[in-house]
Amino acid sequence: MYDFTFCIPTKIHFGKGQISHLTELAGYGKKVLLVYGGGSIKRSGLYDTAMKILQDAGLAVTELAGVEPNPRIETVRRGVELCKTEGIDMVLAIGGGSTIDCSKVVAAGAKYDGDAWDLVIDPSKITAALPIFSVLTLSATGSEMDAFAVISDMTKNEKWGTASPCMIPTMSVLDPEYTYTVSPKQTSAGTADMMSHTFENYFTKEKGSEVQRYMAEGLLRTMIKYGPVALEHPDSYEARANLMWAGTHAINGLISSGSANAWCVHPMEHELSAFYDITHGEGLAILTPVWMEFVMKKDPSTVADFAAYGRNVWNLSGDDAAVAKEAVACTRSFLFDTMHIPANLRAVGINEDKNFGIMAEKAAAGCVGCYVPLTKEDIVEIFKAAF
Ligand code: NZQ
Ligand code: ZN
Repeated sequence: MYDFTFCIPTKIHFGKGQISHLTELAGYGKKVLLVYGGGSIKRSGLYDTAMKILQDAGLAVTELAGVEPNPRIETVRRGVELCKTEGIDMVLAIGGGSTIDCSKVVAAGAKYDGDAWDLVIDPSKITAALPIFSVLTLSATGSEMDAFAVISDMTKNEKWGTASPCMIPTMSVLDPEYTYTVSPKQTSAGTADMMSHTFENYFTKEKGSEVQRYMAEGLLRTMIKYGPVALEHPDSYEARANLMWAGTHAINGLISSGSANAWCVHPMEHELSAFYDITHGEGLAILTPVWMEFVMKKDPSTVADFAAYGRNVWNLSGDDAAVAKEAVACTRSFLFDTMHIPANLRAVGINEDKNFGIMAEKAAAGCVGCYVPLTKEDIVEIFKAAF
């Protein structure tokens, strides 16, 4: 096990009605920037509920609305401007990962004397942030309890993740009922995203971290059990609650600390979103089985890891080679047949391969030190196989 420091300071209020804890924001100042997306929180009534609690607590609310899926730097800049001109004390995100990510960089930008894009491309420039709070409405990214934020500049086809301990939310409300209205498409994409976070941490060259390995397998089994239930019964509390808590733990450091190598499927997907603005979880789902096959071909010593995955997550039995192959088939069938995710890049509207070279070059720079290191040429091959 590698050496590590483990600290997740986010206070989680999990369950029905926990939004009442928004009153705690009053302990952090008077002025709140409320950040949300394209309107789902208005349609569900969550906006009205939150506003009433905030106003009853004596808080003044300024709004940043319209955060896009794959949040844009232009929206972050608008938020930073609002924080600076209105003297905002704290930022409250109500939404999915895009809204929370945007809020994090807004909160950091409010304490930074320069353009917020600097903070996206150079995390070392993030030295302070306003307190960040979230009410999660989509189980997927884990942004509600992690240090990361992913922001895009579509004018340059750039999408980068940044991170800082000061962007970890102070408090997050996780009420599974708020995810009942999530569409089948986003439910599936969210499940694929949290599975990918688990895979990125689980497939590692560090073999001495059994605690993390077994926890990761438990998370994967949970996602595989409850993803289909949530699709069939969107208002199954049990399914939504298990997905929500599994998604949070997939990326909050619990299974990565002391164990994980650098991630590699995410850098590849971020190039797909940067160039073609696709849904993050769908891009990951399309790349994952192709990546698994590629990795086993490039480094046959990994076959034993994929066999362990097949045995412990999919209950397969047999020799390593057969089980590893079958494990990839199970993964593919789960994502594309059971969860109905589009199965290749064309199916999500990517009809050209002319940018694969530049995309692969950028992704390869982000894959340094990963489970099986990938070159630009390797990544082009993976993109082509996913096409
Ligand atoms: O904008 P609104 O109207 O709220 O609608 C959203 C959006 O259209 C909708 N939605 C959210 N909650 C809903 C709902 N619709 C109905 N009912 C609800 N309860 O879903 C759509 C997608 O929302 P979005 O926030 O974009 O999805 P997600 O949570 O998957 O976030 C994706 C973003 O997070 C980044 C991704 O790259 C992408 O930009 N990631 C962030 C990470 C992190 N911070 O740690 C890690 C991830 O790997 C990922 O890269
Ligand atoms: Zn992800």
